Amino acid sequence: MSDVAAIRQSLKPYLSRPSGLARAMPGPFYTDENFLEVEEQAIFRKEWVCLGHEDEIRDPGDYFTTELVGEPLLVVRGRDGQVRVLSNVCRHRGNIVASGKGNTKLFSCAYHAWGYGQDGALVAAPLMDKVPGFDKADCGLFPFAVEIWQNFIFVNLDGKAAPLAPRMAGLLPHITPFQHQDRISVFTADDVWKTNWKCLVENFMEGYHLSATHLRTLHPITPTSLCRKLPGTADYTAYESHYSPDTPERTPYHPHLPVEYRRHSTLFCVFPSFVVSYASHFTLYMCIRPKGVGEVAIHWGVAGYVENAEAPEVAPYVALCNAFNAEDKEKLETLIRGLKSERYVPGPLGPEDVEGTIADFYRFMADRLARA
Ligand code: FES
Ligand SMILES: [Fe+2]
Repeated sequence: MSDVAAIRQSLKPYLSRPSGLARAMPGPFYTDENFLEVEEQAIFRKEWVCLGHEDEIRDPGDYFTTELVGEPLLVVRGRDGQVRVLSNVCRHRGNIVASGKGNTKLFSCAYHAWGYGQDGALVAAPLMDKVPGFDKADCGLFPFAVEIWQNFIFVNLDGKAAPLAPRMAGLLPHITPFQHQDRISVFTADDVWKTNWKCLVENFMEGYHLSATHLRTLHPITPTSLCRKLPGTADYTAYESHYSPDTPERTPYHPHLPVEYRRHSTLFCVFPSFVVSYASHFTLYMCIRPKGVGEVAIHWGVAGYVENAEAPEVAPYVALCNAFNAEDKEKLETLIRGLKSERYVPGPLGPEDVEGTIADFYRFMADRLARA
């Protein structure tokens, strides 16, 4: 049996949530090159993948460029206020059109100076009026399917995914009270960690490591013992990390934040790879995507109910995020080394409240990859 077939086989028990002992997945699930190719085709090209917070491109003409499984993407807000995700590949001879981020009325391909508007329409093409049959209307940048959910921008590369919002309906009672829609983007960063993308998704979504890995950073605020799992599906998983009684209120929060939401964060994952924490005061989000089997690209950010990014509460929260991210990075970069060992035998997962979210993630992976 090939490694890929063996991995699919190990996912099979998760087509439903097993009632007995749940086990971790074998090493090749995280380290096999061929399995990554399967994931890219069967998951990252077919599912809704988050690229960022729509407030990151607040004004018409604001844009950023990124990449998903080798597809160069241009994320831009048009004059009409619409967020579009366009192919960042020139319709002339295929060069990359835009780079970095910024604000512009015109995206000009530097190779032969074809120019595209904020909606992707071709508006300039030097000398092409001399070419019989040429029509600018046939040569716009390809528009990918986009859905905005909770102010986050999701793209679906193959355009065939079912709408996202109805699939997330079960999460709404747990996240709506945080009034995330009124939080503005105050910080973003891009990183690459040397680990598999699934190691980071699982790490963000399990509370088991909070007290051990984050003894000085998160344990005093959200200890492992106070984690409570929420119901998950084959589309998402979620848990609440309740605040230690010794932790002061985490502010500033929205005036409509109910009292019972002031003492916990809700963490959730929109499968495959968008992980978020709605705390009483800030939202922390990570848009995760594979960059090779042993590297993960992370676009992450913070949003808050504040006037602007200079509000005094922003910097301390970003500093906390940077501190626990550094702790996670260290653990996930040693984890991937262990997972490469031929002697690694998958162990049992921890109790439902702290690692049941990982079983939900396996259920998603099984649902998409183990039915064949
Ligand atoms: S490839 Fe872009 S203008 Fe020629
Ligand atoms: Fe962590």
